Amino acid sequence: MGELSSQDQSLMQDAIKARHKAYAPYSNFTVGCALILENGVVVTGNNQENAAYPSGLCAERVAVFSAGAQYPGVKILKMAITASPKDDSFHKPVPPCGACRQSIAEYENNQKSPIELYFMGAAGTVLKSDSLSDLLPLIFDKNYL
Ligand code: THU
Repeated sequence: MGELSSQDQSLMQDAIKARHKAYAPYSNFTVGCALILENGVVVTGNNQENAAYPSGLCAERVAVFSAGAQYPGVKILKMAITASPKDDSFHKPVPPCGACRQSIAEYENNQKSPIELYFMGAAGTVLKSDSLSDLLPLIFDKNYL
């Protein structure tokens, strides 16, 4: 964390705050995401679980869909993600799941500029990816439709 720029630390702090508001009564695994748009607005999300398990949604998709709904066409510059069991016990970087990568890729492809991703556990080491495309090669996208 300490090696990040102050803007990136602030984004990760927003992700931490979002994680603490996650609704995860079934897995007890809480995830927070904060993304910053090119207009400076920060949009957050957290995982929202459901008694019918597959009806829940990951933090990253809550955040990107919320950004897409509220600020259509505004570029996403960076996303910070923090994930751990509720007791904060996990301190290794937690990368986004495949479905979230696919969803984020839709926005990265449309905006034609990379989205930086920073991910960590409850605290500790932060991993950075310069672009979503580095996490999901050979992606299926609208060019195949
Ligand atoms: N989860 C996320 O929010 N993001 C991911 O990338 C992986 C998993 C959530 C879904 C579920 O609420 C909990 O973590 C356990 O899988």
